[in-house]
Amino acid sequence: MKVGFIGTGSMGTILIEALIQSGALEAKQIMAINRTPQKAQLLAVRYEGMQIASSIAEVIENCHIVFLCIKPLEYKKVVDEIAACERKDLILVSITSPVLIEHLESQLECKIAKIIPSITNYVWSGASIGMYGSRILTEDRLLLEQLMMSISRPIQISEEYTRITSDLCSCGPAFLAFFLQNWVDSAVEVTGLDRTEATRLACEMLLGTGKLLTEGGFTPEQLQQRVAVPGGITAEALRLLQNKLEGVFHQLIQVTHAKYEEDLEKVNTIFYGQEVNRPQY
Ligand SMILES: NC(=O)c1ccc[n+]([C@@H]2O[C@H](COP(=O)([O-])OP(=O)(O)OC[C@H]3O[C@@H](n4cnc5c(N)ncnc54)[C@H](OP(=O)(O)O)[C@@H]3O)[C@@H](O)[C@H]2O)c1
Repeated sequence: MKVGFIGTGSMGTILIEALIQSGALEAKQIMAINRTPQKAQLLAVRYEGMQIASSIAEVIENCHIVFLCIKPLEYKKVVDEIAACERKDLILVSITSPVLIEHLESQLECKIAKIIPSITNYVWSGASIGMYGSRILTEDRLLLEQLMMSISRPIQISEEYTRITSDLCSCGPAFLAFFLQNWVDSAVEVTGLDRTEATRLACEMLLGTGKLLTEGGFTPEQLQQRVAVPGGITAEALRLLQNKLEGVFHQLIQVTHAKYEEDLEKVNTIFYGQEVNRPQY
């Protein structure tokens, strides 16, 4: 089986490297193309046997599964090129939230899936979100899940929850890293603790917390209760966070969803023009 990647920017590279390093795919099973060819060529130097295509048609002709690792507004141009050479048995996977399965099914006859990965998949960890179009058979879904299982925990969701699940799975690492960075900055400023030491302690804590919440049998509520004994120091600090962060997560969801709606509107216009009834999620 050959797997193709159109776009070897940040996410395309992460997926290719994780799939090779986890042993899910051999380099020779991968064919890639990037608008700026040097980016894909660098990967081919690192992973001997990986093939670089000279056209999108070459990727489509040679691959059973093709991941579209490009930005939302770049989809239509690539989809038009695919339409000129597609095969019905091709499994095309979009990795971006504002391009809906319906957009792709309306332009193409092949099988369409949407899989939102996460930077955590680079270390074979975290979830990936799977959504499957009407032409995807059970065996196609299982094949995609098997592939993603080597680098993530694949979780199937309904497409109407694309944005919120992407917030949690894909944006989450940036949100938590922001939280950690600010905490470390304050630790250094207020107490003079060495930055490297503070960062190491905070990162090890995050890893352990993740394990407790995934493998250790704790829910987030139980973990807080367990650490924050009544009248203790943690309980005092949690009260501060509760007060200061009141409403912040509602606002965060509003912000990500507003930007998503803006991007979706642009994608709708590119795919359908101005006048057509537009799907919203
Ligand atoms: N970053 C994340 O954590 C994350 C997580 C989940 C999903 N995503 C989704 O992943 C998608 C890609 O994001 P990214 O961060 O990887 O963006 P990126 O770094 O800009 O990568 C996009 C790549 O696509 C290439 N490209 C554009 N048009 C092309 C074409 N016609 N043919 C071949 N290659 C083409 C670009 O080439 P050039 O080198 O010429 O620019 C670029 O290397 C986005 O839609 C994003 O929503 C990202």
